[in-house]
Amino acid sequence: GRRAAITGWGAYVPEQVLTNQDLERMVDTSDEWIVTRTGIRERRIASPAETTLQMATIAARRAVAIAGIDPRQLDLVVFATVTPDLLMPATASLLQAELGATRAGAFDLAAACSGFVYGLTVGAQFIATGAADAVLVVGADALTRWVDFTDRSTCVLFGDGAGAVVLQATTAEEGVLSSVLGSDGTGAMHLYLDGFRELLSANGTLPSKRPYMRMQGSEVFRFSVRVMGEAAIEAIARAGLRLDDIDLLIPHQANLRIIDAAAKRLGLPAEKVWVNLDRYGNTSAASVPICLAEAADAGALRPGMNLVLVAFGAGLSWAASVVRW
Ligand code: ACO
Repeated sequence: GRRAAITGWGAYVPEQVLTNQDLERMVDTSDEWIVTRTGIRERRIASPAETTLQMATIAARRAVAIAGIDPRQLDLVVFATVTPDLLMPATASLLQAELGATRAGAFDLAAACSGFVYGLTVGAQFIATGAADAVLVVGADALTRWVDFTDRSTCVLFGDGAGAVVLQATTAEEGVLSSVLGSDGTGAMHLYLDGFRELLSANGTLPSKRPYMRMQGSEVFRFSVRVMGEAAIEAIARAGLRLDDIDLLIPHQANLRIIDAAAKRLGLPAEKVWVNLDRYGNTSAASVPICLAEAADAGALRPGMNLVLVAFGAGLSWAASVVRW
């Protein structure tokens, strides 16, 4: 059949590093607490002038260059983000213009940290049905813009960044083999942007309080440990594979304990799990494509390898895909 192969990849993270030691000077926390509870050592912070679009443009240009295509060959741009430059128009349209992808349709997709795997699934479907031959899928977020840097329970977790892939049609035995998408909106208020409703309903006078991200960490933790394993197992079954067939797990980078639990559930040793959250923290929709680009650039991905991409996030939402490299 007709499948979507990943033919290009790219990633970008901002220059500015915020270490655990820096955070020790900002809130009542310690490097020891952050490392043992999360595995994070440092994260990247977008400068005030740096936007989600700019980060995404760098990642996307790389992905297009590696694929070796002209941006005008792209049929679709799917931009997964919950931190768009503007709410209107879509950041996907701004990126489409930056790239000169003049033939491409473009839209944003909001599924928080699950967004990239959602976007990959959408792009793969367009290709499988023949509706598109080449799709750019981007995951990019500047979540630290919405982080309350006086709240130690959230400010240690997040970082900024962007990742992108080019999907192209193939009839070879490679590409996106299966996907599982999930959502449980009853958990919506476990992780949300506080104060945004007030901002939208403000009549003339803007509220004095800035919107900030709020999170029930332990609720999200319990949920994520469950769905990461379950979604990955379902995606593997849908691909007609067994756990033994999996060569590499590329999980959303939120917390090392969550990743370890998912790996254990799948029976995967540490060397079959990609981890970079020690350097970048949780970059939301960018985390999975940054890992994928890193693994590809490191030569860790070889033809025929079976990868499992799995993510969870606000929604609550989750998504998993099996990709044959
Ligand atoms: N430094 C020091 N102490 C802290 C910090 C900190 N940065 N943060 C919390 N604590 C304290 C708490 O106040 C609490 O103290 P108390 O016992 O006196 O009340 C104690 O540490 C334990 O807190 P818990 O919340 O129980 O710690 P836990 O082990 O659950 O770890 C964490 C918290 C890291 C947030 C964890 O729950 C987690 O990772 N949850 C998942 C969050 C997540 O992945 N969110 C992103 C989803 S993706 C998206 O869509 C954006």
